[in-house]
Amino acid sequence: MFASSNIEIGFFETIESTRAIRNFKPDPIPDNLLRKVLSSAGQAPSGGNRQPWRWVVIRSTEGKAEISRLVYQAGQMAEEARRAGKDKRPRPASATESKEFHEVLLHVPVIIIACAQRPVSEGPHTVGPFGQTYPAIQNLLLAARALGLGGTITTNFRYMEKEFRNYLGLPDNIDPTCLIPLGYPANTGRDRHGSKTREAIEKIAYEEYWGQEISF
Ligand SMILES: Cc1cc2nc3c(=O)[nH]c(=O)nc-3n(C[C@H](O)[C@H](O)[C@H](O)COP(=O)(O)O)c2cc1C
Repeated sequence: MFASSNIEIGFFETIESTRAIRNFKPDPIPDNLLRKVLSSAGQAPSGGNRQPWRWVVIRSTEGKAEISRLVYQAGQMAEEARRAGKDKRPRPASATESKEFHEVLLHVPVIIIACAQRPVSEGPHTVGPFGQTYPAIQNLLLAARALGLGGTITTNFRYMEKEFRNYLGLPDNIDPTCLIPLGYPANTGRDRHGSKTREAIEKIAYEEYWGQEISF
């Protein structure tokens, strides 16, 4: 049990109830919970145990304002790319492209930029920056949920990757992969943990050969 958190839920309930949270209460995240979330993220597996994830944690008013501004511009660029037929995602491509989300970032308690450290050489065995960081990011989101917090993976900011790199001072061998807002869920609309829509395993798992129904 952690100070400022009277929530402690079981492993499977954590997995089954973790939702993407995009709106938050203004309450700050206590330092010990933030540390627990990041240390849980760091328990993830990685190739050769390189632990290539790095986190830039933004809590200052100025930092959030700058991130919000860049995310807004990223949304504009996504819109332009869509108009030019380069981004073929249906519109709106993601909930976080909205004007509201860019405003959310001004007030969310914490913004985390997940980053991947490049391996010394690339090949068929390497999984790219996303593969390197997603196990840790999922740990982070599950730990957040278990502590009563919430957040979501967002990727639209990468339309402004160069500007993010400059602002955050990222070295050349570090790639930003996700922007994660983190806080206590607003508990309004869909911004709450709970039941979610997922495919039944009969639809997504086969036995022995592709297309053969599972018998268990
Ligand atoms: C690789 C990946 C990228 C995602 N990108 C975004 C994003 O840019 N914006 C957003 O609002 N949600 C994003 N999400 C969150 C998904 O929209 C969310 O997990 C999905 O809709 C299921 O929502 P639920 O868990 O609340 O049911 C992303 C999730 C993943 C795994």
